[in-house]
Amino acid sequence: MSGRFITFEGIDGSGKTTACSFAAAWLRKQGRSVEQTREPGGSPTAEELRSLLLKSQIEPRAELLLFVAARVENIVHTVAPALAAGCDVICDRYWDSTLAYQVGARGLDAGLVENLRSALDLPEPELTILMDLDPQHPRLSQPDLLDDDHLDNAGLAFQRRIREAFLDLSRRHAERYVVIDANAPLKQVSGCLEAALSERLS
Ligand code: TYD
Repeated sequence: MSGRFITFEGIDGSGKTTACSFAAAWLRKQGRSVEQTREPGGSPTAEELRSLLLKSQIEPRAELLLFVAARVENIVHTVAPALAAGCDVICDRYWDSTLAYQVGARGLDAGLVENLRSALDLPEPELTILMDLDPQHPRLSQPDLLDDDHLDNAGLAFQRRIREAFLDLSRRHAERYVVIDANAPLKQVSGCLEAALSERLS
């Protein structure tokens, strides 16, 4: 039996990483084997591309292709083998991040991304959890929540465009999306996550 492919999305500092670990622990409690990965990253080459992407100012089309190159590496070396072995895979960001950041916020052509996506024919997630955070929420002003990279410092208006793009994706793909209010207190966020996981994955 093939594993389930679950992705987490959200603006920078929305609590995705904590939510991914929470979901992995929840699935393991259900007796599932779980592989946790992230994008960009998840394989040695993809992690090298991640370092490059997070520290350099790259022309937006070149940046898009590097995110996609890292994605192919992550899928081929980490995600696909785990799914084939029956593990559930939790991936911190996937194609929807490309649509939200490169198309929604940086203004690249949606057709370009859609063409790459359909030509590459990578697995589709069966569940996507959006950690929906208001960019003005105090969480974001806690410096320890932010990495020291140019993408995280791109500003409030940029984060607002990304949030809107994710919310739009969640409406257009309601069948695979669950939206979690990440502005809520941590206990409430984990309660909502647990309810979503048990409804969609039990
Ligand atoms: P991540 O480490 O998940 O950021 P954070 O932990 O702050 O949420 O992702 C690194 C950055 O890369 C993040 O700002 C979003 C960006 N990104 C894109 O612009 N396009 C993509 O396709 C992906 C996967 C990430």
